[in-house]
Amino acid sequence: MGKDVIVACDFASAEQVFSFLDKFQDEKPFVKIGMELFYAEGPEIVRQIKARGHKIFLDLKLHDIPNTVKKSMAVLSRLDVDMTNLHAAGTISMMEAAIEGLTRPDGTRPMLIAVTQLTSTDQERMTNDLLINRPIDEVVMHYAHNAKVAGLDGVVCSPLEAGKVHATCGDNFCTVTPGVRFADGDVGDQKRVMTPAQAKEIGSDYIVVGRPITAAADPVAAYRRCVSEFCD
Ligand code: C5P
Repeated sequence: MGKDVIVACDFASAEQVFSFLDKFQDEKPFVKIGMELFYAEGPEIVRQIKARGHKIFLDLKLHDIPNTVKKSMAVLSRLDVDMTNLHAAGTISMMEAAIEGLTRPDGTRPMLIAVTQLTSTDQERMTNDLLINRPIDEVVMHYAHNAKVAGLDGVVCSPLEAGKVHATCGDNFCTVTPGVRFADGDVGDQKRVMTPAQAKEIGSDYIVVGRPITAAADPVAAYRRCVSEFCD
């Protein structure tokens, strides 16, 4: 499985994202495009970043009835993204429909990963707001297992959960982990963090890194530091 650093390009406009990507002359980072940029700029932003030679993780977290998700995934697949995602809470049928929609006539498709429980959802909110009484770790692993049963490629999870996801779903089921910070960097609003080196140690397959790279004085140097700690 390709270990890689995915740069979360949480920018509000095409202008901002291109001025950031222009700093990279010698490498083409794997880029995550989230809802803010996608809703601001539309699908053209995906085509433009792709045309510059970057791989793209389109982070839109789909969650709807299976038929709608299937048709929407077919549209995203035609955009030629490399990875996209959905909420495992949409059920196994929704995830299976998503795979169908994503699969191109030649049998290829982008990687599809599931969000289990958002890291903003803690045990108390899950119990009180969602009326899910089981321990959150068990729910996360159950949703990861459902994603595997539906044929997905992996889950987004905290680096702290990556080892357990692999133990539950196998080493080939990939873990994409945000919440990464340098040992000497700002934690910001992330609560449970790991360094790129620790994420590698615990078995993350991809790390998603935003502000430690995008807000760095030298983003290219910060990206290279992530790659050397995580991939080498
Ligand atoms: O700037 P930072 O490194 O915190 O960015 C992390 C990225 O990963 C953001 O795009 C954030 O939305 C995303 N993410 C996260 N935690 C999750 C899921 C996604 O931080 N559980």
